[in-house]
Amino acid sequence: MRNNIVAGNWKMNLTRDQAKMLVEKVLSGNCRKNIEVIFAPSFINLYKIAKMCSDHTSFSVAAQDCSANKKGAFTGEVSASMISSCNAKYVILGHSERRLNFNESNDDLKAKISQVLSNNLEVIFCCGESINQRKESTYFDWIESQLSESLFHLSKKEIMKVVIAYEPIWAIGTGMNASPEIAQEMHAFIRGLLSSCYGTKISENISILYGGSCNAENAQTLFKQKDIDGGLIGGASLNSKNFLKIINSF
Ligand code: PGA
Repeated sequence: MRNNIVAGNWKMNLTRDQAKMLVEKVLSGNCRKNIEVIFAPSFINLYKIAKMCSDHTSFSVAAQDCSANKKGAFTGEVSASMISSCNAKYVILGHSERRLNFNESNDDLKAKISQVLSNNLEVIFCCGESINQRKESTYFDWIESQLSESLFHLSKKEIMKVVIAYEPIWAIGTGMNASPEIAQEMHAFIRGLLSSCYGTKISENISILYGGSCNAENAQTLFKQKDIDGGLIGGASLNSKNFLKIINSF
């Protein structure tokens, strides 16, 4: 059975104290059992937050990116092995902000995925179309190319270490979430692609998260959809009350 997951992508927000306070409030709040909760802080808070979560089995941390290189003269970069040594479980890769602002290509992501998996970490792989691709009805082809060019070379064992996050770019940080029907349609399409490449059994065991203006108000109707297994939450994950409400939306 695939996991229900709520992941908070903090992006470039929260100082050390603010991060600690937010996590304390979430950990001491009332969370539904059997939901995997992930915090994705900045690199400098990774170790601290992982430590705070270490006694809480359903909580873990994710880095927001990693280097495509193993180690060496790459000033400012953070390697997958460093992330692993901070006791993180996941690395978010392919977020549209990184694809757009840092020109990350599907090939770059393929290299990063290889680093992540070879350091015993798991991947939260983001995909999503622009507003123009949505209007021009090229979004299915686009998502298929993002997945096939970065992920579908993986073995069956490796793909089981991947969580997919569908995040339409037009919904990120805009307050304009995809309707549950639109999101479900894409999630079912993604699961279908997984099934053609890896078989039904594996496709049914991979969690597919929705991201893009998911909040305490709309999470429940989104999470009710058959192929939506949770959310990758940006803005609404920065407030403990909202985040707890989202966790309890299943
Ligand atoms: P948002 O961001 O929830 O603020 O729209 C989601 C994301 O970028 O992962």
